[in-house]
Formats: sequence, structure tokens, C-alpha cells
Amino acid sequence: MKVEIHKLFEYLLETASDEPPECFLGFSMADPPALGVYLPDLDPGLKLDWNGLSFQGLPVLRTRVIDQAGLAGACTPDDVLITAGTAEANYLVFRQLLEPGDEIVTDSPGWPQAGVMARAIGARLVEVPRREADGWALDPVAIAAAITPRTKLVFLTNPNNPTGRLIPEADLRAIAAACDRAGVWLLVDKVYAGLEWSGPRPPSIAGLYARGITTGSVSKALGLQGIRTGWLITPDKALLRDALILRENASEIMNILGEHIAEIALRPDRLAAALTATRAAAQRTLRKLDDFIAATPRLSWKRPEAGLIGLARLDGIDSDALAHRLLESPYRTFVLPGSAYGQPQHIRLGVGGGAAARLEDGLARLADCLASWPSA
Ligand SMILES: Cc1ncc(COP(=O)(O)O)c(C=O)c1O
Repeated sequence: MKVEIHKLFEYLLETASDEPPECFLGFSMADPPALGVYLPDLDPGLKLDWNGLSFQGLPVLRTRVIDQAGLAGACTPDDVLITAGTAEANYLVFRQLLEPGDEIVTDSPGWPQAGVMARAIGARLVEVPRREADGWALDPVAIAAAITPRTKLVFLTNPNNPTGRLIPEADLRAIAAACDRAGVWLLVDKVYAGLEWSGPRPPSIAGLYARGITTGSVSKALGLQGIRTGWLITPDKALLRDALILRENASEIMNILGEHIAEIALRPDRLAAALTATRAAAQRTLRKLDDFIAATPRLSWKRPEAGLIGLARLDGIDSDALAHRLLESPYRTFVLPGSAYGQPQHIRLGVGGGAAARLEDGLARLADCLASWPSA
């Protein structure tokens, strides 16, 4: 079946116009670095030709991927496939693992790609709720209970998009054990990893479970979304090969320039410096957002444990109506309505994007808009 649009992308398409919003309150990425930052380490003699290279991606980049994922000793560069972002890595797994009639267990709210792909393949999506009253925590017992003999795959994001809640190591291990008992694959998308605020960075599932799959990219914490460079890591050689075969029929090979830039960005000294700078900036902006939410009637939130986004509750206001009103003059401000995640009483707030997002102006405009909103 055809892949159909989901609400989140519909909204992004609708708002990406010739007259873009002036302020962005939903940015999930670090301030994007300029190309010049990488030029001193880029070889001007580099050929942008791919012949003779590995279909899995540059070996040195795959080593960096293993190292940044904390998988040295548990996995090897041979367990890595470089992909066009986390989105492609997830796609390859959904498409090669799922068959009509299979069940896929996921969390809600969560990343809509699982639902889109399940519908296209004719698989059934089984959603396990994350409850706001529990701080959006994921209950590993509920995940285990949702697994049936038809379950093929559990798909989770850690940190969770959109709540920023982490699944801690003990819960990940419990979920992996439940998957193992049932022979189920476990894909954990770590695209938001690297910016943890409370608690340590949870381990990568590819190092904990034989049917574990870790996906990620340089898009979020490093702000390098435009180079479309991500990865899929799994100790299962057959799945990696299946993913490689599908990719050969889509983008065929990697973006060679993106691979070189990602390799430079993931060198330990550069990675540490970039994460330190982004963490410091994000801590400041998250505190601002905390203060803003505390001071704004009709708004509350469970602060994200990691990453640059979280869900804020709107007291008695529909998220679609508010997001659309905010796009109009005089506000010209972007927020993602929670309806994109099946949470119509929430908006997704984010502090990424750097100065170009104009966070403070956007918050002032959101406050004005809420102040003039009619009471229920
Ligand atoms: C949970 C999740 N997975 C994957 C993606 C796609 O990321 P990438 O740029 O690495 O393809 C996103 C993008 O917002 C995301 O939020």
C-alpha cells in the first residue's frame, strides 16, 4: 500500500511557505554550525565519487558511530550501516521486518513514523500510553503485556519524541528481556541522545540484545540535519544485509560529503566540545522556558529529561486552534500542535534552533496570544 501522510508532516508542509514564521518555538535541533567550522579538517582533494568504497559506509565513520554510541567492545564497525538519517534507518527496518498482519508495539505519544509504516505495510499498531501524570514515563510491564504471538517489532524513541522522557537502563533491559522471551525485534531510535539533563545517557540497545537495533544521526544534538547522515546498528548480520539491499534500491549509496563531515563532527574532541556548548546553551533556554511556563496561566509542563523538546499542556484550549492562530499576524510564530501526536490539549515546545529561532520574541507572542484567548 501507498505511504500516507501523517498529521505532523501535514502541518510542517502547511507552514513551510514563502512567508515563513518569524519565530519558532518548537525547534528540536541544536544551533546549526556553519560549513566553515569543518573546512580546516576537510581534504580539498577529496573525490566526491563513491567507487571502491564500502556499501556500509566509511569504516572510520562507522568506528566513530560505535564509539559515540558507547558500543565499543559490544559491537563492531561491521554492525553499522550508514544511512540517510535516522528516518531512513528506521524505514529500512520497518520495511524489511514487517509483513501484513504483524503487530508493532510502540509508545504514545511517540514518533509517528511507526504508525505510517505499519499502515502502509498492513501491520497493526499497538500503542502503549505514556501518561502525563507519571511524567510521561514508559511502563516496561505495559510494553511486555502488549506483546502477543503476532508481535514482530517493538519501536521506541529514547529520549522520547515529543516528551523528552528517558527510558532508564533497568527498564530497557526489562523490555529487551520481554522481547527476547517472545522472539521480537526491539528498535530504539536515539536521534535525541547526547543532551541528557537528569540521569545518565541510557545504553544503546544494539549492545544489550541480539535482536536489538539502534538508530541515530548527527541531526539533533549536533544540528547537522541537512547532511542527511545517520546510522543503523545491529549485531544481526542478516537484518543489516536486508537493510543494505533495500537501501540499494532507494538512495543506493551514501552521501559521501555528508559522511566526511559527520566523521569530523564525531571526532572525540569535536564531539565533546559541541555537546558541551549545546548543553550550556540549552540549559539556559530550558530554564527560560520553565520560568515562562510557570508565569503563564493556562500552560504547564513536565520538563524534558533530555533533548530540546517537551509537551506543554494547554488549559482548555485546542492545540490546533492555538497553533493556527499563532501563525497569523501579528504573532507569526510556529508551534507544533500536540494533535500531531494524538495530544490535542498540548503543544510541543522546543528551545533549539539558536538565535534564528527567536525564542524570547516567540514566547512573548505566545503569552500575548494566550492572554487574549477567550475563556472556556
Ligand atoms: C524520533 C525521530 N526519529 C527520526 C527523526 C528523523 O531524524 P533524521 O534527521 O536523523 O533522519 C526525527 C526527526 O525529527 C525524530 O524526531
